Amino acid sequence: MAIFAQTHTKPAPTDHPVHELIRERWSPRAYSDRPVERPVLARLFEAARWAPSSSNQQPWSFIFGEQGSSGYQRIFDALVPFNQGWVKSAPVLAIGLARKNSANGSPNHYALYDLGQAVGLLLVEATSLGLAVHEMAGFDAEKARTNLNIPETHDLGAIMTIGYAGDPNTLPDALKERELAPRTRNPLAQFVFEDAFGEVANLKRA
Ligand SMILES: Cc1cc2nc3c(=O)[nH]c(=O)nc-3n(C[C@H](O)[C@H](O)[C@H](O)COP(=O)(O)O)c2cc1C
Repeated sequence: MAIFAQTHTKPAPTDHPVHELIRERWSPRAYSDRPVERPVLARLFEAARWAPSSSNQQPWSFIFGEQGSSGYQRIFDALVPFNQGWVKSAPVLAIGLARKNSANGSPNHYALYDLGQAVGLLLVEATSLGLAVHEMAGFDAEKARTNLNIPETHDLGAIMTIGYAGDPNTLPDALKERELAPRTRNPLAQFVFEDAFGEVANLKRA
């Protein structure tokens, strides 16, 4: 089976070689109606489970809902209208949460950082399975908290779609244009420094 058996792919035009799982990951807005089987979902959360975390506190949790379920609707209802517009074709929605405090009650300042790492591994696993995940910050956090019964002990990360990328032609024109637009990133010289902040690293040396 081809790993990247997607309707549309957008490999990153990298300046340096990277692993194909990193090159091929992207955030589509069009999804096929192919469901995501439970063992596949389990693999994604298993990948998240093995992320590193500060003092191995594993502050993350996830709530997911399958299309047609009350959980899906609860997550969907918290999204801003722009995201609701395209998300409706995705078979699974999920939200990542981070437990705010350590076991001793002191704030864990790395909780959201660790959640981000866990989601990063989930994204890599998803890519390896030909799945696509699209994260979203465009949602009403208080609505999500209420709808999903999320306690104040937890911070909200991002909502994400999980599914198989679909045909960009199913999107309205403006979104289709974005779906097909080239991917861009800042150059390394803008954010990788050597020896001190602002000192551009020479990464060309052998
Ligand atoms: C924390 C976070 C929040 C995001 N919020 C939204 C969002 O609300 N709506 C949306 O369409 N895309 C959202 N995105 C997707 C980004 O726009 C996308 O990752 C970025 O443009 C890079 O594209 P790529 O993931 O295809 O490389 C979000 C991504 C992240 C990581």
